[in-house]
Amino acid sequence: MKRAWWKEQVVYQIYPRSFCDSNGDGIGDLNGIRSRLDYLQALGVRILWLSPIYRSPNDDNGYDIADYQAIMEDFGTMEDFDALLADVHARGMRLVMDLVVNHTSDEHPWFVESRSSRDNPKRDFYIWREGKADGTPPTNWGGCFSGSAWERDEGSGMYYLHFFSKKQPDLNWENPAVRDAVFDMMTWWCEKGIDGFRMDVISMISKPQEPWTDAPTYGGLYGSSEVTCNGPRVHEFLQEMNRRVLSRYDLMTVGETAGVTIEEAKRYANVDGTELNMVFQFEHVGLDAGPDGKWCTKRISIPALKANLSRWQQELEGKAWNSLFFCNHDQPRVASRLGDQSPRSAKCIATALHLMQGTPYVYQGEELGMTNYPFTSLEEFRDIESLNAFRELTQAGLREPEELFRAIAYKSRDNARTPMQWDDTENAGFTTGTPWIAVNPNYRTINANAEQADPDSVWHYYRKLIALRQDSPWSDVVVYGHYALLAPEDEAVFAFTRTLEERKLLIVCNLSAERRTFRVPEEVVWTRSDQILGNMDGTLEREMSLAPWQAGVWSL
Ligand code: GLC
Ligand code: CA
Repeated sequence: MKRAWWKEQVVYQIYPRSFCDSNGDGIGDLNGIRSRLDYLQALGVRILWLSPIYRSPNDDNGYDIADYQAIMEDFGTMEDFDALLADVHARGMRLVMDLVVNHTSDEHPWFVESRSSRDNPKRDFYIWREGKADGTPPTNWGGCFSGSAWERDEGSGMYYLHFFSKKQPDLNWENPAVRDAVFDMMTWWCEKGIDGFRMDVISMISKPQEPWTDAPTYGGLYGSSEVTCNGPRVHEFLQEMNRRVLSRYDLMTVGETAGVTIEEAKRYANVDGTELNMVFQFEHVGLDAGPDGKWCTKRISIPALKANLSRWQQELEGKAWNSLFFCNHDQPRVASRLGDQSPRSAKCIATALHLMQGTPYVYQGEELGMTNYPFTSLEEFRDIESLNAFRELTQAGLREPEELFRAIAYKSRDNARTPMQWDDTENAGFTTGTPWIAVNPNYRTINANAEQADPDSVWHYYRKLIALRQDSPWSDVVVYGHYALLAPEDEAVFAFTRTLEERKLLIVCNLSAERRTFRVPEEVVWTRSDQILGNMDGTLEREMSLAPWQAGVWSL
C-alpha cells in the first residue's frame, strides 16, 4: 500500500464557533483557536480541520458563504488567520479548510447579481427554472432543512434550487464559469499554504439529468433529496478539480459524500489519486434512523454496526482509503449515542474506531467524552435543521410534539455544538461573556483541565490511542494492517485483528453495559499476550469475561 501522511496522522475537527472565545463576545474565534494549540499538540493530533470561517450571514453557521476569500467578522481577520496558519505550521501540524461549493449564501455577490435579472451574466451561476403550470415549484423535491428545495424569487417569478436553506442557493456546476471561479478561489487558498480541503456535500454538485421529475416521498411532504447524490457528472467535475488544482499541491482531501455507496466511494477516493483521498460515508451513523428518517430515538444495533463498518473496511482495502468517525458537527455525541455517557464507554468506542484501517477524525470534545446536552425546551436549540423539522412536522400533524421533541433532543446537531469544556469555571472556560449556545451543565466534571490532570481520563486514553497510531512500534500495523472481523454474530463484542506481515494486533471491545463472556475464535493464536492498550487491566485468554465497556488491544 502506498504511504501518505494523510493516512498516518489523526485529524482533529474544530467547530470554531464553539471552540474558544478570545474576546468575550460569546463566540469562538481564530485567536481562541491559536491560544489552544498547545492543548492540541499535547493530545497529539497532527491535522486540524476547521469548519467554515468565511464571511457569512450565519443562516447555517457559516455553511452559507458570502465571501470565500474573507474571514467572518465574528471569528477575526485575515491577519488572524495568517497568524494561525503560521502557528500551526510552526508546530509541525497541518491545517485543512472546509470547502463549501455546492452552494453559496444568497448574500454572495454572485447570487445578488444572478437574481437581479433574467439576463444578468451571473444568471447561470445558479439553477433557475419556471414553476409548474399550476403555480407550484418545478418539482416536488424537498430540501435537507425541510420545505421545498425551490424558492420563488419575486423579481423574475422564477424559482431557484436550494437543497439546504433558502439562503443557500445551489451553484450551477454545469456552467464552466462557475468551475473556473471555484478553482481560482481554491488555488488562492492553496497559494496561502493551507494543507487540504474537507469538501462539503460534494456528492451533490452534479444535478440529475433533465428533464427533472418529481421524486418519491417517504412519508414526508416532499420528494427525497437523494435525487441529487452522485449525479452524472460528479466524477468528471472532481477529476477536473484534481487536474486543475489538487494535483498541483501536497494536500489532504476528504469529500463529504451523502448517499455514497461502496462502489461510488471506490471512484471518489480511488488509489490512483484522480479525485479525492477519502470520503466520509454515513451508512454507519444512519443505522439508528427510522422509516421516517433520522428523527427517532432508536439505538444503533451492534451487530449491524460491525457488519457495516467491516464491509467498508474489506471493500475499500487496496482500492480506496477509509475515513473513521462517529462524531462531527452534524452528529449527536457518540458517548450518548453508542455509549452510556461513562468515561469507560467513551474509551471503548474510541478503541474500536481508532484501531480500524483509515484516517481517524476526532471532533472537539470527543476526546473528553463530552455528551449530549439535556435539552428541555425548544428555546435551547439554535440549529436551523432541528428548528425547521420541529415546525414542519408538527404543523403538518405528522408527529406528536412531545415525541418529536425527544427525538430531536437526542439527534440534534446542537448536541455537538455546545461549547468546548475547558475547565470548571463559569461557562467551562469557553467565554467570559454569554455563550451563543448553552454550555452542557456537566462541565464541572467533564473538562479538559480535570482530564489532563487525571492519568486515567478519557483525554489521556485518546492521547495514547493517537500515539499508538502515529508514534509507536505498532504504527505500521495500525495504519496499514489488514482488517479481519471476528465473531460477527456476537451481539455486543466488536473484535477484530489487524495484520501486517508477521505482526498482528487483536482488538476486543465490549460495546455494552453488561458483563459478557467472549471466546476468542480458534483461528487466532498467540505466543505473547501483552495488552498494549486498554481501558482496564486485561489478560488475554481463550475464554474472556469482559466487564461492561471493557476494551483491550493485544500484540500477539
Ligand atoms: C454539510 C455540513 C452541514 C451543513 C450542510 C450544508 O452536511 O456538514 O453542517 O449544514 O452541509 O452546507
Ligand atoms: Ca469571540
